[in-house]
Amino acid sequence: MFIDTHCHIFKEYYEDINEILNNAKNNGITKFINNGCDKSSNKEVLTLIDKYENMYGAIGIHPESVDTYKEEDLNFITSHLSHPKIIAIGEIGLDYHYTKENKAEQIKLFEKNLKIATSFNLPVIIHSRDATEDTINILKKYPVTGVIHSFSGSLETAQIYIKMGFSLGINGVITFKNSKLKEVIKKIPLTNLVLETDSPYLTPEPYRGTKNEPARILDIAKYIANLKEISLEDLSKITNENVKRIFDI
Ligand code: NI
Repeated sequence: MFIDTHCHIFKEYYEDINEILNNAKNNGITKFINNGCDKSSNKEVLTLIDKYENMYGAIGIHPESVDTYKEEDLNFITSHLSHPKIIAIGEIGLDYHYTKENKAEQIKLFEKNLKIATSFNLPVIIHSRDATEDTINILKKYPVTGVIHSFSGSLETAQIYIKMGFSLGINGVITFKNSKLKEVIKKIPLTNLVLETDSPYLTPEPYRGTKNEPARILDIAKYIANLKEISLEDLSKITNENVKRIFDI
């Protein structure tokens, strides 16, 4: 039994969400954390967690929405945090991959999200792309922990995050042929890792090029169990304990 700690299960991506969740169940993936990114996906997270018993939600404003979000979108988040199945603020962070021009605005938005997490005492799910230094420096200002989603950095960066109390979210990227992540993850204790798909993105090998779904956690888990030379059962036990330590699931 596995938990997908980071997916985006929305009507926009999946015609039949029931079928996607059944596929996952048939592959032993029993729980999901569905991550919102903006007002409309945050709203949909709230609808879906009421509909699906095994689905939990994270709501937040993603850096990609920096130019379009409104202050009321943040108020919408704070006014729904009493929902017992909203278990984190996410997906939030910094993304300098396409442009650094809006860096100041991104940092402002990131800090607004972090202030919410701090005042509601919730863990965070962090997106950081080409922005490691700023992400670390900003996170250090807030008494928060959680998951560094889609971690793919160096061993040194991994160790800094772990020392700060964060866990690393590992997905299909580790199976990519040119990924240097395998060597890093070999050296990281399993107690610091959680599994995720980032569905519909980042489909693991050998399915790369098709739409990802939570059922693929099993492929990622098999890959990591083999890499770490442990049984699938032990990997399941350890990573599920990690998830329960971070999130109120
Ligand atoms: Ni994501």
